[in-house]
Amino acid sequence: MKALQISPNVYWVGAIDWNLRDFHGYATTRGTTYNAYLILGKKPTLIDTVKKAFYPEMLSRIKSVIDPKHIEIIISNHAEMDHSGALAQAVADFEPSAVYASTMGVKNLLAQLHPSFEIKAVKTGDKIDVGDDTLSFVEARMLHWPDSMLAYLEKEDVLFTNDVFGMHLATSHLFDDENDEQIWMQEARKYYANIILPYSDIVTRFLGQVQQMGLAPKIIAPDHGFIWRKDPSKIVRLYGDFAAQKPTNKAVVVYDTMWGSTEKMAQAIADGLRQGGTKVQLMSMHACHRSDVITELLDAGAILVGTPVLNSNMYPAMADVLCYLKGLKKKNLIGAAFGSYGWNGAPIDGLTKMLEEMGVEVVSPAVKCCFVPDEKMLAQCEELGKLVSQKLAEKVK
Ligand code: FEO
Repeated sequence: MKALQISPNVYWVGAIDWNLRDFHGYATTRGTTYNAYLILGKKPTLIDTVKKAFYPEMLSRIKSVIDPKHIEIIISNHAEMDHSGALAQAVADFEPSAVYASTMGVKNLLAQLHPSFEIKAVKTGDKIDVGDDTLSFVEARMLHWPDSMLAYLEKEDVLFTNDVFGMHLATSHLFDDENDEQIWMQEARKYYANIILPYSDIVTRFLGQVQQMGLAPKIIAPDHGFIWRKDPSKIVRLYGDFAAQKPTNKAVVVYDTMWGSTEKMAQAIADGLRQGGTKVQLMSMHACHRSDVITELLDAGAILVGTPVLNSNMYPAMADVLCYLKGLKKKNLIGAAFGSYGWNGAPIDGLTKMLEEMGVEVVSPAVKCCFVPDEKMLAQCEELGKLVSQKLAEKVK
């Protein structure tokens, strides 16, 4: 397998994982890439490695341009195993003179690898000589792990951003201008919503810091998806927009159903929202994945959640999606709960409590239906939809 030149002295030597469909609970329906980069020159330097199983692919690409034994420096920008999984093997095979990571990266890599080799810590502003060029470092704590770090190759003007500005997209064409914008925009949104969203305040601060540093690289080289060479500022601007979480007049109705009653209620609520002029996305957890729910919520202003009652509890698929959403901390949502029960409606109130715990502004008590909704109950659901629509219109105007 061959390396791909991305700038005069920098080569992509990563791996393409066409078949990945689950990335810790996130449905990666278009696979992913694990990008690693090789800087050639007097001190050949490897930026990141790949997931352990893909080490032979990375090695083969490295061998297409250099004897791997000539690699002098390895940088580990992030200690998650899709990038650090092959680090120990790479160090054993290449015997570099130095391995660098952020301070937290050193701590995390020691706990993962229990290595016999030394890992040196670097911090924001530190620089290392890589032969014909200089690498400087910017720590990016909690984007998205405490150890996350970016590395900037100064003369070639290439910023290696690890997870930041990436997306889970397996592609044979590794540059932004070679990929379909409709597809990559979906994947960039999905990646932000599922990976970066809880750290949006940090993103906003980080983008300000990058601007202050005057960092506007010619190439942005993340570790997932493709490399930004035509318009790197595009993904930076998109991150600014995503991080702002400005609500739009859009509601997402998320529900599960046992005998169809909660589904009838969801449809009536959706109709009320539509009548109020709100764009609605109806998502049954029989048909939709949790990672698509948070992606739809990225630009939404309202969430309505519905459940039947099973064994004095909410439906398992609703517990799953609500637990996932709670962790992702989406801001600026209003919402309400609804559902059908047989003899104990309290678990539906549990959904309202979960919405509150998620920071959602609850605008109505839960609408609860004993068994099958009649016309009167469906009208009440429609009214709930209209109420949420009205409150949302006030919020986004
Ligand atoms: Fe791509 Fe946080 O690992």
